[in-house]
Amino acid sequence: MAIAAVANLEEEFSPTDKPAGPCALVIFGGAGDLTKRKLLPALYNLSKEHLLPENFAVVGVSVDDLSQDGFLQHVTQFLDDPDRAGDRWDWFSQRIQYERGDFANDNTYQCLQQRLAAVDENFGTGSNYLFYLATAPKFFAEIVEHLGKSGLSREENGHWRRVIIEKPFGHDLESAKSLNRDLQSVLNEDQIYRIDHYLGKETVQNLLVFRFSNSIFEPLWNDRYIDHVQITNAETVGVERRGGYFDNVGTMRDMVPNHIMQLISLTAMEPPASFKSEAVRDEQAKVLHAIKPFHSDEVLMNTVRGQYGEGRIGDNSAPAYRSEPGVAPDSRTETFVALKLAIDNWRWAGIPFYIRTGKRLAERHTEITIQFKKTPLQIFQDTVGHKLRTNQLVIQIQPEEGMMLSFGAKIPGSTVRVGSVNMSCEYAKYFKAEPKTGYEILLYDCMIGDPTLFQRADMVEAGWSVVDPVLDVWRAVSPRKFPNYGAGSWGPKEADDLLARDGRKWRTI
Ligand code: BG6
Repeated sequence: MAIAAVANLEEEFSPTDKPAGPCALVIFGGAGDLTKRKLLPALYNLSKEHLLPENFAVVGVSVDDLSQDGFLQHVTQFLDDPDRAGDRWDWFSQRIQYERGDFANDNTYQCLQQRLAAVDENFGTGSNYLFYLATAPKFFAEIVEHLGKSGLSREENGHWRRVIIEKPFGHDLESAKSLNRDLQSVLNEDQIYRIDHYLGKETVQNLLVFRFSNSIFEPLWNDRYIDHVQITNAETVGVERRGGYFDNVGTMRDMVPNHIMQLISLTAMEPPASFKSEAVRDEQAKVLHAIKPFHSDEVLMNTVRGQYGEGRIGDNSAPAYRSEPGVAPDSRTETFVALKLAIDNWRWAGIPFYIRTGKRLAERHTEITIQFKKTPLQIFQDTVGHKLRTNQLVIQIQPEEGMMLSFGAKIPGSTVRVGSVNMSCEYAKYFKAEPKTGYEILLYDCMIGDPTLFQRADMVEAGWSVVDPVLDVWRAVSPRKFPNYGAGSWGPKEADDLLARDGRKWRTI
């Protein structure tokens, strides 16, 4: 059953946000995939919503030999054709510039400084600069060091300078700490925006609103009423053209310390005292610190790793991971992870959080399931169907965004039979919102200086503290039989066993 729509949707949800103030966005890695697939389309969406400042410009920096026009064509190729015409397009396209340069070279930053002075002059960007590091991670510290040396990161005379760092943020706890030290030796923490694109997803942000703007769920959100929590993040894609990168990283590092930790923290955090960025991030950090790190002898019992073999996804055959371009033929890198985590605090003691995330699974689907406990007394236990009935709240993150609450109801008829009914709210139907890239809100928030949806240094380090002990044991104990799941399945059997040992099952998707 669908929740009835409120009377006047348009009035109720009409946007009230104001455009950001004057600024220039500098994208290091300007000719890369992220820029053309996500950042430029997101900026264009912001411009259509009149959320970009009138005084605005983009400067792409990369080593590629591109003309001004060539760069514009390259980075706007993912905009729809009708978007590339008319006044909005003219306004937008005039503000896109290219600076060729090597990130390691001092000269690049001198040229960039001159370019930005001209941009300030021509577009009134007010010497406020947002530097987006959409590069390979090995350049992060180096670019920031150069920004410091050249004076480009210095905030003075009332203008601001901010730096967005893409993932992966380190490859273990030690390297994440070292990167934090390098960044903080040049920048103040409030100039650093560590991005996680999961926080740009509507339903992920909605977790906060859902939990803390409704009075009916929060009283149930604890060990008294919740049996366990499941987080599933399933992808149908394999490693695509990123085999060379992914084979050195694996699903644990690629997904868990960042995206999965964000989902856990928003699901499990305590109510913040306000919606101010530090109040929210303090609570997120606290709950991440409360996740119990595994002792080495607990790792193999509570974690599962998998690697896909060949199989079929829909009508298409899919190759084994080891046959993907850039992947070693005897690779031991995991493409699937399942974990049983415990959060050692008052609210969650004894309530497992089961996580699974993997590539080449049966469907693209990300959700959080809150599985409630059985009623204290089961008065319908002798009726048909009663076994299936425990309440579930499913927060669907992708591909469809929405919420679903299932509960038991009497099936009409002259005998008592219990059935399960769903009350659901699909975002797309309810809000009639167009799908976005997810980067719109993140870019806008950086421009207005709101770090709520970005990771603080301590949050990143807390995520790695959970993952590091698992990686240590996995490194020491080789996986016994890789590949251990077929492309197009729901992962290795051991992931089902992880829950079956506790008398539980993954929700059927
Ligand atoms: C990225 C990972 O951060 O997230 C990719 O590096 C993964 O391996 C992607 O495919 C998943 O993002 P989304 O938004 O498609 O769930």
